[in-house]
Amino acid sequence: MLAIRNLSIAFPRPGGEARVVDDVSVEVGRGESLGIVGESGSGKSMLSLATIGLLPKSARTSGEILLEGKNILTMGERELCSLRGRRIGMIFQEPMTALNPAMTAGEQIAEGIRLHRGTGRAEARAESLRLLDRVRIPDPARRIDSYPHEMSGGQRQRVGIAIALALKPDLLIADEPTTALDVTVQKDILDILDELVADLGLSLILISHDLGVIARSTDRTLVMCRGRAVEAGPTESVLRRPSAPYTRDLIAALPRRARAGLGEEAPLAAGGAR
Ligand SMILES: Nc1ncnc2c1ncn2[C@@H]1O[C@H](COP(=O)(O)OP(=O)(O)OP(=O)(O)O)[C@@H](O)[C@H]1O
Ligand SMILES: [Mg+2]
Repeated sequence: MLAIRNLSIAFPRPGGEARVVDDVSVEVGRGESLGIVGESGSGKSMLSLATIGLLPKSARTSGEILLEGKNILTMGERELCSLRGRRIGMIFQEPMTALNPAMTAGEQIAEGIRLHRGTGRAEARAESLRLLDRVRIPDPARRIDSYPHEMSGGQRQRVGIAIALALKPDLLIADEPTTALDVTVQKDILDILDELVADLGLSLILISHDLGVIARSTDRTLVMCRGRAVEAGPTESVLRRPSAPYTRDLIAALPRRARAGLGEEAPLAAGGAR
């Protein structure tokens, strides 16, 4: 459903340009989850922003991002607007910055539904309540009227997911969705994402620097280093039998216990990294 072909993204710089994504190709099938992992600054967020047409204005792109055959990179703002939310939903790392502090959870979820689908107020509110229930927020009937500052980080992230789901997208992009959360909440959020892929047949792009997260929640993995795709394949084989030295370094850099945890999901080759 999504095919990224030879995508490059560059920013003008005095005396030339800085290429932050360099000739990356990757595909995501319907109902499939793709993990993207790589060090800070490797271009993961730029790749996902390009996919929803939200790159900074100064970015220069080449290649194609095809959503069901249509190139997102050449779409106009109107076409992009109808694509965001309705075809592709985005979940951000820090839900506080993604949410509007002056609107209740329910208003923010309902806004897109009313705007894009012309649904009436009462019906949009009922749908918001169903979505809050779906992301397993405690006491949704009360939370629907809460403001972001009245909620915990995990609750805010659930609202973020409900907003992303509101327009029933086919593809969800989650850029470090659990980084700001503690491990138990992290597990809940990943469970919800897993469920959405399994029950609704959503496609998922999950960006994380945490190989444990990638191991438990994705079918395929793309490893990025300095804007390039250094390795891609089924998650299990990428983690068990990494072929790129960079991937081996990423695995080796994990604390021993985390590496062992990874081993439970996808045991590493004898000796772990190298
Ligand atoms: N507006 C911009 N102008 C110029 N360069 C930028 C701009 N935004 C980001 N970059 C550069 O693009 C590169 C890739 O950034 P990106 O945010 O995609 O990294 P990332 O892999 O998501 O990192 P992290 O794990 O820290 O989120 C970085 O080197 C960054 O400095
Ligand atoms: Mg990023």
